[in-house]
Amino acid sequence: MKIVHTIKELQTELLSDRSEGKAIGFVPTMGALHAGHASLVKCSVNENDVTVVSIFVNPTQFNDKEDLKKYPRTLEADCKLLKPIGVAYVFAPSVEEMYPVPDTREFSYPPLDTVMEGAHRPGHFNGVCQVVSKLFDAVKPHRAYFGEKDFQQLSIVREMVRRMKFDIDIIGCPVVREEDGLAMSSRNMRLSAQERENALKISRTLYKSRTFASSHTVCETQKFVEDAIAGAPGLQLEYFAIVDGNTLQTVERWDVSDDVVGCITVFCGDVRLIDNIKYKER
Ligand code: PAF
Repeated sequence: MKIVHTIKELQTELLSDRSEGKAIGFVPTMGALHAGHASLVKCSVNENDVTVVSIFVNPTQFNDKEDLKKYPRTLEADCKLLKPIGVAYVFAPSVEEMYPVPDTREFSYPPLDTVMEGAHRPGHFNGVCQVVSKLFDAVKPHRAYFGEKDFQQLSIVREMVRRMKFDIDIIGCPVVREEDGLAMSSRNMRLSAQERENALKISRTLYKSRTFASSHTVCETQKFVEDAIAGAPGLQLEYFAIVDGNTLQTVERWDVSDDVVGCITVFCGDVRLIDNIKYKER
């Protein structure tokens, strides 16, 4: 496994792979890797000849400077996790490498990016699209892998790929959970033992709501989740939205789509956690 820090180095390395007709898989990350990332990387290694993993904490997608400062940076441990999986290249650029000049491009994909995370984190998806498009240009992969935990991000990246005509297959991979159900996230490492315990209520509520939903309306299910989180110690609900998985617009009835997802964001102490559950899937 080679660790490269510049786009030029990466492209030189990939040149021979490309000329040999090898399929290139790509997993973009911000590091602080866990089993959720490992599952994306394993998919890429299984489905491609060469896998590139990028590790870059992208400043343009953080609308909160404190959050950017606190984001864990663990390159050495990340490389230890990646090597045995069979990754060929880790691309770990500096901020100057990715942004030699400020990126003034604007990406706007309403209504996908105006709801949920888009409404609560202004500029977040613009920053995600800036960096992902730069990474796609640098790596030029055949396939790129994204977690369904960031459900809205996955939809927006798919839309960006469609609009910008990137010749890349975007593969969504299921949410990976701890044994007790907590969705894996790099932010989990910032939870105290008590907060970790409190955070469990999020996935438990989502799972219970799926059973509840089978005999209740969308509106009742919405209230079921809101009440459960409001009554849970140490948690503060930012939003819970039951949406059509294609348009990300809220639904009022279960039968309006064959793809219905509940997306939730909750503060556990000062750690912002997101999760989602499929009520109906194609
Ligand atoms: O999901 C993430 O970790 C980031 O948003 C991504 C896709 C690596 C872009 O910085």
